[in-house]
Amino acid sequence: MEFILNRRPTTFNGDEQTPLLWVIRESAGLTGTKYGCGIGMCGACTVHVDGEQMRSCSVPVSSVAGRSVTTIEGLSSDTSHPVQLAWIKLDVPQCGYCQSGMIMAATALLKKCPKPSDAQIDEAMSNLCRCATYHRIREAIHAAAN
Ligand code: FES
Repeated sequence: MEFILNRRPTTFNGDEQTPLLWVIRESAGLTGTKYGCGIGMCGACTVHVDGEQMRSCSVPVSSVAGRSVTTIEGLSSDTSHPVQLAWIKLDVPQCGYCQSGMIMAATALLKKCPKPSDAQIDEAMSNLCRCATYHRIREAIHAAAN
């Protein structure tokens, strides 16, 4: 099956029920997308599919046939995306494990809602962070929105 991964046509010849996360990490070698829970709860595996956030652990790769998938590596070539710059400026990560998923969720939110309120951020950002960086994440989203 074929899909677009970070703007490049990609072919996957394995089991089409393989979770998208493992195709991204194992077949494509893009390890910025993380495995946390494997059941769609934590958001560490968040990517964009046709611009919408999706938890890649919970969908078979067949569900993205012909669609466009973007991972953290595809956001920008040099971490110059405004959300990444805000994350760096506000020193958001602690351990960092969940942060690529957080950034993917935040960029999807800002695309839909360029100036989100705190309530809109809290509603859209259901990803989990064990270091509880939620306050800095919210601040960085506001900063990126300006
Ligand atoms: Fe996919 Fe937790 S690893 S939601």
